[in-house]
Amino acid sequence: KPYIVIMAGGIGSRFWPYSRNACPKQFLDILGTGRTLLQMTFDRYLDVSTIDKFFVVTNQSYFDQVREQLPELDESQILTEPQRRNTATCIAYATYKIQALDPEASMIVAPADHLITQEKKFHSAISKSLLAAEVEGRLITMGIKPNRPETGYGYIQYLEHGEEGVHKVKTFTEKPNAKLAKTFVESGDFVWNSGMFIWKAKSLVAAYEKYMPDVAEVFSEGRNQLGTEREPEFILKAYSLLKNISIDNGIMEQSEDVYVIPTEFGWSDLGSWNSLYELKEKDKNKNVVESNAVLYDTHNSYIKVDGNKLVVVQGLDNYLINETDNVLLICKLDAENKFREFVANAKKKG
Ligand code: GDD
Ligand code: MG
Repeated sequence: KPYIVIMAGGIGSRFWPYSRNACPKQFLDILGTGRTLLQMTFDRYLDVSTIDKFFVVTNQSYFDQVREQLPELDESQILTEPQRRNTATCIAYATYKIQALDPEASMIVAPADHLITQEKKFHSAISKSLLAAEVEGRLITMGIKPNRPETGYGYIQYLEHGEEGVHKVKTFTEKPNAKLAKTFVESGDFVWNSGMFIWKAKSLVAAYEKYMPDVAEVFSEGRNQLGTEREPEFILKAYSLLKNISIDNGIMEQSEDVYVIPTEFGWSDLGSWNSLYELKEKDKNKNVVESNAVLYDTHNSYIKVDGNKLVVVQGLDNYLINETDNVLLICKLDAENKFREFVANAKKKG
């Protein structure tokens, strides 16, 4: 049975202010199903492995939220990070830890911000990936057929003649600019990187050694402290030494051993307001209304205001209105690339 590593330490800034530093999107019941995104991710893997093989990697400030939301896990299965160092570091922590437990282990790395609607197809893709990842050195990712020139994803071009639907990756381009994304989608040759990875722990350790030697050095030096009482101290030091870089930029774009399995299982990344808007039920004017609201001449908009404040809106097209706690945000629904700035400036205003 593979180890399951759930990454749940992002801030979900493109969902601000609904998703906030204190409670990012993975801890929210964004879809109104009664389960948070983290819980839905956990549920999805219950049939894939056994609970003792799960790890959640998250910032130390979210430890209590993870404990509360996943009481099934032992405290030791929650790996806490002292700083945000992005996914390359987060995955390294889990991988070296797993390798210390079992040098032959296979693992699945799962982001906590996805929705998958077709469970059966998902499970068969997982089995196929695990089998493909048995070949030492291989790094497997699942590819999704793109339907728009989204700039928030990784794009993969692969060599067609793979066996059993497992294809060698030719190019991996993380978050291309709009023009490039458009070219990729129009060419029909590319799939999106789903962000779920499957490999043997030792395959990834070899990739760190080759492509991110600084990470490999820090973790191989400290590997015998993992699992001992000195682990927190070592992690504190390791995180202070390492750069903030994603696994996509650090390894997937560089490695020559990346393989993709093109899949279709009703995947969506709940990355931004726009992607959530796409999923939700809309009224006849294509609005998503999650508030007590009266709309006039308003189209293609998302309105979500806390509490029972009455919202009256006129003349908007393609807007987002979200009030969460003490923040009211009104912006274009597709202003995805503005959010970093919104959040940074809001912090200054206090
Ligand atoms: N523990 C931890 N620590 N988790 C983190 C950190 C961190 O520093 N940074 C991000 N995460 C978690 C997020 O909570 C999320 O579940 C997952 O890692 C992926 O991070 P995102 O920040 O959401 O990445 P992305 O969506 O921009 O891009 C990735 O996913 C896309 C598909 O959704 C990439 O892999 C893209 O190539 C891919 O297309
Ligand atoms: Mg994401």
